[in-house]
Amino acid sequence: MSRRNKITIVGAGNVGATAAHWAVQKHLGDVVLVDIVPGFPQGKALDLAESSPVMGFDCKVVGSNGYDETAGSDVVVITAGVPRKKDPVTGKFTSRDELVEINRKIVGAVTREVASRSPDAVLICVSNPLDAMCHVMFEESGFPRERVIGMAGVLDTARYKYFLSEALGVSVDDIHGMVLGGHGDTMVPLPSRTSIAGIPLTELLAKDKIDAIIERTRKGGGEIVGLLGYSGYYAPAAATIAMVESVVRDRKRVLPCAALLKGEYGYDGLYIGVPCVIGKGGVERVIEMQLSAEEKGMLEISAAAVRELVAILPYNKPAT
Ligand code: APR
Repeated sequence: MSRRNKITIVGAGNVGATAAHWAVQKHLGDVVLVDIVPGFPQGKALDLAESSPVMGFDCKVVGSNGYDETAGSDVVVITAGVPRKKDPVTGKFTSRDELVEINRKIVGAVTREVASRSPDAVLICVSNPLDAMCHVMFEESGFPRERVIGMAGVLDTARYKYFLSEALGVSVDDIHGMVLGGHGDTMVPLPSRTSIAGIPLTELLAKDKIDAIIERTRKGGGEIVGLLGYSGYYAPAAATIAMVESVVRDRKRVLPCAALLKGEYGYDGLYIGVPCVIGKGGVERVIEMQLSAEEKGMLEISAAAVRELVAILPYNKPAT
């Protein structure tokens, strides 16, 4: 009898629980939800499991405050941490950088727990600040770089495509393109590489409209925080599940992910958002595409921002 895929999601909060929901809805495998709050992952898991007769999925869903149930997972998603919040008094948002210190400890401890029990798993980092937390997961797991990946580009690309579909009045299915680089202000959109069913975007939408969409995409996370008072989770969870699906079904999708570069794009030892072929082994290939001088300049700004964050971490510093 073949064995079902096993997916562990650490952090049963907004992103984690929503990701679990979509994982079972897509029949991707059995799900273990882990959280530090007593009763919380168990409650979320039971509630989700009770929906199975109605929704028609056979995946098992269990919740735990420990890690023994996670043993032998194929994929582990880490969303544990403190999300960005709006200060009710000052109205200011927590910056991603401010989260480094708190989330580093959480993500480091979680990584050690899951890595020891699932030594062959692909680890997907969702916790922010994303690029810094990828470095923490890579260092603390001791896994090869192929099996420690960050989720940012799929989310940023989804927002970009959605805004374009709205502006053009066409299906999201027919918009092709990618956002590279870091999450947020340092993302690198590639409008010259974006097409609508093969037709270059630049032929269909005026430059000022494209620029406005790029700006909105860059601030996409903040726009949701501004409306809700906390981070979004439907789109982040959906983006995470696209990566999980590509791993467990070995789809070899080309997805923009944060990957540890070893010479690609001229960087060494840095997590940067680049196009990756994602399959059973995690990042099976980093695709190196030709970038214009302007795009390369934007990628360098991203890299500089990652370097700055990584410098705060207590690990050996990247070479470049
Ligand atoms: N071990 C396990 N779970 C933990 C730990 C820990 N040490 N510390 C915190 N958690 C759990 C919290 O109890 C909470 O349920 O992580 C969960 C985080 O969920 P939310 O606060 O709802 O945050 P969410 O919106 O899901 O975002 C999760 O993704 O996009 C990023 O910036 C965001 O880093 C944040 C992460």
